[in-house]
Amino acid sequence: MGYFDKLKKAVSGLLPAQKRENKDAPATENITSPRGLPNIHVLATGGTIAGKQTDAGPHYQAGKHGVEALLGAVPTVRGLANISSEQVANIGSQDMDEEIWLKLARRVNELLARTDVDGIIITHGTDTLEETAYFLDLTVPSGKPVVLLGAMRPANAVGADGPANLFDAVVVASSPDSAARGVLVAMNGNVFEARDVTKVSTTAVQAFAAPNFGPLGQVHDGRVFYWRRSDRAPARQQPGFDISGLDKLPEVGIVYGHANAPALPVTALVEAQYRGIVSAGVGNGNLYHKALAALADAASRGIAVVRSSRVAAGPTLRGIELDDARYGFVAAGTLNPQKARVLLQLALTRTQEPAEIQKMFVDYC
Ligand code: SIN
Repeated sequence: MGYFDKLKKAVSGLLPAQKRENKDAPATENITSPRGLPNIHVLATGGTIAGKQTDAGPHYQAGKHGVEALLGAVPTVRGLANISSEQVANIGSQDMDEEIWLKLARRVNELLARTDVDGIIITHGTDTLEETAYFLDLTVPSGKPVVLLGAMRPANAVGADGPANLFDAVVVASSPDSAARGVLVAMNGNVFEARDVTKVSTTAVQAFAAPNFGPLGQVHDGRVFYWRRSDRAPARQQPGFDISGLDKLPEVGIVYGHANAPALPVTALVEAQYRGIVSAGVGNGNLYHKALAALADAASRGIAVVRSSRVAAGPTLRGIELDDARYGFVAAGTLNPQKARVLLQLALTRTQEPAEIQKMFVDYC
């Protein structure tokens, strides 16, 4: 009987007992450690959670502490799970790129295939956390929990939020209830699904929200409570997109919509031979007429054009204000521009056809 099956048979209130049992666990241990607890593997990528503030503060640099130091700040997680860890990168997430995405997705897939791994946690900078979470949502199976977290305050700041978020992420990854919900994000007591979560504050500890559907649940006192299950979550035993043969992703750019928007950003991407363009349009994905003409021209040349919106909530709907069929455009639904870019990159590994890409946007978002 696997860990989750055993846990399902257990009654609530188990976690405090586990905490007491395992207070002497070593800082890093083998993944197969047989303690009757879930085996949770932590992959660290950097970010403010690993950031170091100068003595004078408030200036800090992201990605300065290793994963051992992050785990060392929350010894109580050793009571929740057998923790193993590795450093995949140590960067500010503004420098996240497809090379690390592919490396991360491959490593997550490898780990999830192991019978002695019950869940995975990924520490990440908050700036592009939502993009990495969605990339993984589309490229790894969801039969076991995969949970991303970050922090808004550096590791040595007064009131650092990283340790609490790390503790919560271990709680979420250790719960059988977290399986088959797609990739999850645990931040500031909330649990979000990868496809809807987005960063909504540049500085607040409550930096993340799911503007269209809300959080899936919350973590309280070492337990996760789910309020709903998303119909959109990929309850997959296999990844949605197979990245095993890929060493790079198709180039896709984003152009930002505004009053009097020129054609120039679009034509620059066309000239640079990008295979896809996401429009962060105004309102329901609308476009100033010069930008519209440039995008229509791009689509007529076979470049995939996806209409999303710069507005924080609500869907970009197909054929309502703009005739997508006429222009050969794809409507992004509730995916924000940066997530639409992720899906378009993966979609383009299969096809360049707008109708097929539109179907993937409906299927995956
Ligand atoms: C980053 O994204 O790496 C810096 C900002 C943060 O983690 O909050």
